[in-house]
Amino acid sequence: MKTIVIYNSQTGFTKRYAKWIAEAAGADCVALPEAKKLIVFCVGASPITSDVKKSLACNFNEPKLERADVFYCPGGLNYEKMSAPTKLMMKMFVKMIKAKKDKSAIEVEMAKVMSSSYDIADKKYTEPILGCLLD
Ligand SMILES: Cc1cc2nc3c(=O)[nH]c(=O)nc-3n(C[C@H](O)[C@H](O)[C@H](O)COP(=O)(O)O)c2cc1C
Repeated sequence: MKTIVIYNSQTGFTKRYAKWIAEAAGADCVALPEAKKLIVFCVGASPITSDVKKSLACNFNEPKLERADVFYCPGGLNYEKMSAPTKLMMKMFVKMIKAKKDKSAIEVEMAKVMSSSYDIADKKYTEPILGCLLD
């Protein structure tokens, strides 16, 4: 397995640890600002590619997000593999949509589709990611 240590350090302490770890592991050591590409892919239950870059604002600071290539890959829902609290939350969410009086067409479809497990993952969604990686 190839290992790379990517670190971010303002005053040098993290850098020192990163170098110690990389040295011991025989890994390359790269400072985050020098890392050439930052590719982020998100997987969701939605079949529609949404503007995930906006949703990522809480995970990355602006300069990092600005230079990141962000991709969305449809996944699915798997109730059989969900933890009990997550399953309960999802079921409540579906129930809430179903109980809504003036449902939009999207909500009607969502409630129907999200009632049971489904898998819409497809290898083809990796193509743009690989294109970016090999660019
Ligand atoms: C609490 C929770 C919130 C979720 N929010 C979203 C969402 O905002 N948009 C979306 O497309 N899917 C959402 N999902 C669905 C998961 O992203 C989806 O099932 C995904 O395929 C799971 O990937 P995994 O098998 O790697 O865990 C949510 C799931 C959970 C449990």
